Amino acid sequence: TAPILRRLADLRARTSEWMRAGQVIGVVPTMGALHQGHLSLARAARAECDRVIVTIFVNPKQFNNPEDLAKYPRTEAEDAVKLTPFDVDAIYVPDPDEIYPAGFASTVSVSGLTDVMEGEFRPGHFDGVATVVAKLFLQTQANRAYFGEKDYQQLMVVRRMARDLDIPVEVIGCPTVREPSGLAMSSRNLRLSPEGLRIAAGMNAVMGDVAKALERGEPFDALTRKAQGDLLSAGFVQVEYLDLRCAETLEPLTRASRPARLFCAAWAEGVRLIDNIPVSPA
Ligand code: PAJ
Repeated sequence: TAPILRRLADLRARTSEWMRAGQVIGVVPTMGALHQGHLSLARAARAECDRVIVTIFVNPKQFNNPEDLAKYPRTEAEDAVKLTPFDVDAIYVPDPDEIYPAGFASTVSVSGLTDVMEGEFRPGHFDGVATVVAKLFLQTQANRAYFGEKDYQQLMVVRRMARDLDIPVEVIGCPTVREPSGLAMSSRNLRLSPEGLRIAAGMNAVMGDVAKALERGEPFDALTRKAQGDLLSAGFVQVEYLDLRCAETLEPLTRASRPARLFCAAWAEGVRLIDNIPVSPA
């Protein structure tokens, strides 16, 4: 099984050797509570890189809600077991002071892309993400980094950040892994009852219907009111957003006039769920 490293110096001792040998280093940043979505990233990294580092760090700075942070599952021992078949080279579980030493005062902030959706409804969230991911890129010295399309806006933000700061890492997006019901896998699904899981699966179903209509050429504003009603009928208590946006720039679209993405965030059983799917140009 892979060594669990908690100190940056121990990680660096390995990565500097790997770099000296000219090996390609891949990183999979996670907050643990690993499921098939995370493991698909480890599989992709293993297939494409000489060395693979999975990081596990529940990053307090990206939680805008203290209760969400307190309830976040922590399952390090199980996570290490789940990674065994993927033969990763290191599991980096940094002690908190390796990420935020006393006196830590810097923030990485990406403007524009973070003004909408998750950025609007979770103030400070993307500053926390961009800051920790910049640190993880620099600490691991990764050449390639694997992120899920499940968090599509995060993927765009991280890619922009790496380009803007000249961090020499290629940011790779991987498809969302789903339950047979269509529900996107998420650590937060663990908090849902069987009934909640049925409600949650409705999000992908409603989004699929909207995407089909958009691909037939229907304008988005004719579809959005019905879709919001369908989400409430499915059992969601509140819909934060249902947006059609350009898949590249995240600008809002009124119809599927270019490669687009449909995004949704809604609450069920006190859990906030998000999903997104591609929409082909009509
Ligand atoms: P976490 O939610 O643990 O997710 C880690 C990675 O797994 C992210 O890239 C996320 O998009 C991906 N992922 C989650 N569910 C997935 C699914 N169903 N299919 C495919 N990929 C999935 O995202 C974070 O952690 C944090 O913000 C982090 C980037 C680690 C920074 O703290």
